[in-house]
Amino acid sequence: MATVLAIETSCDETSCAIVRDRTVLSNIVSSQIATHQAYGGVVPEMASRQHVETVNWAIEQAIQQSGLTWADIDGIAATCAPGLIGALLVGLTVGKTLAMLYQKPFLGIHHLEGHIYASYLSEPSLEPPFLCLLVSGGHTSLIHVKDCGHYETLGQTRDDAAGEAFDKVARLLDLGYPGGPVIDRLAKAGNSQAFPLPEGQISLPQGGFHRYDSSFSGLKTAVLRLTQSLKPQGALPVADLAASFQDTVARALTKRTIACALDYGIETIAVGGGVAANSGLRQKLQMAAAQYNLRVLFPPLTYCTDNAAMIACAAADHLNRGHVSPLTIGAQSRMPI
Ligand code: KG4
Ligand code: ZN
Repeated sequence: MATVLAIETSCDETSCAIVRDRTVLSNIVSSQIATHQAYGGVVPEMASRQHVETVNWAIEQAIQQSGLTWADIDGIAATCAPGLIGALLVGLTVGKTLAMLYQKPFLGIHHLEGHIYASYLSEPSLEPPFLCLLVSGGHTSLIHVKDCGHYETLGQTRDDAAGEAFDKVARLLDLGYPGGPVIDRLAKAGNSQAFPLPEGQISLPQGGFHRYDSSFSGLKTAVLRLTQSLKPQGALPVADLAASFQDTVARALTKRTIACALDYGIETIAVGGGVAANSGLRQKLQMAAAQYNLRVLFPPLTYCTDNAAMIACAAADHLNRGHVSPLTIGAQSRMPI
């Protein structure tokens, strides 16, 4: 059994959590959305500065809420890659400093491995192998989870991430940032069949299409062209556009995820990342999974979006296996899982 304190500062959430194996003892998340909203997206320099201002508070709160003392902590972890480099450096530097100060082992954790471990927090009985559909603002990946530290990326986006597509389409419809929740809400009042949109398939040189890779930039351009042609006719049918766009993304993701699970004989699908909150995706994937007798897990939203509990959970598993990172480990903006 390992009790780990982890820090997550890879993007626009400052988070610190304490987890004992798969049990969350505290999980403090401070979102910077209000800071970045005015700019329509995350401003990296502002994100780093706000992490510096908030991280000590988040750590104190996490310790206080857990009811533990530093003596009860077996290891300290921080997200080391991928993400905004300045933002990552804040959590990583603080984590390494605490490890030195309290003489604890340190673990640098890959952000996507954290998203995978979010599923264990809500479903502690879950065991590999399973397929993780990771859909966030920065990633769209289908990862075959074979064991702790053994992952194979079977599918990914060739351009925009699914969440990025939601954010870009929301921006061109003047809906603000982040776009996913607004589009999701508007889509409920719209007709998803109003506008046929391209699903963004990746052609293969030998003919046919890639079964697991996706592309969302063409879909975004199609929505842009559509709005340009509709604008002169008066007020935009925003709800119908949102519903049609969301339905297309959900269809594309569901099709690839199910194909991948069936091809590889994987019976459990765990979804992670902010886009896992999307009601259209939830509905489509659940229906398709039921049809093929597959189990699909959607962790609660607090564990889908960025949080340190998922990082701590991954670190606890590694620590139980005797894995530690050297204190010379650096931050990296890009790194395959
Ligand atoms: O995982 P996350 O919090 O941060 C990243 O690591 O990127 O995901 C944020 C992304 C944003 O692009 C946001 O628009 C999207 O998740 N998102 C949604 C919904 N809620 C958040 N996308 C679609 N539908 C939602 N309900
Ligand atoms: Zn993330």
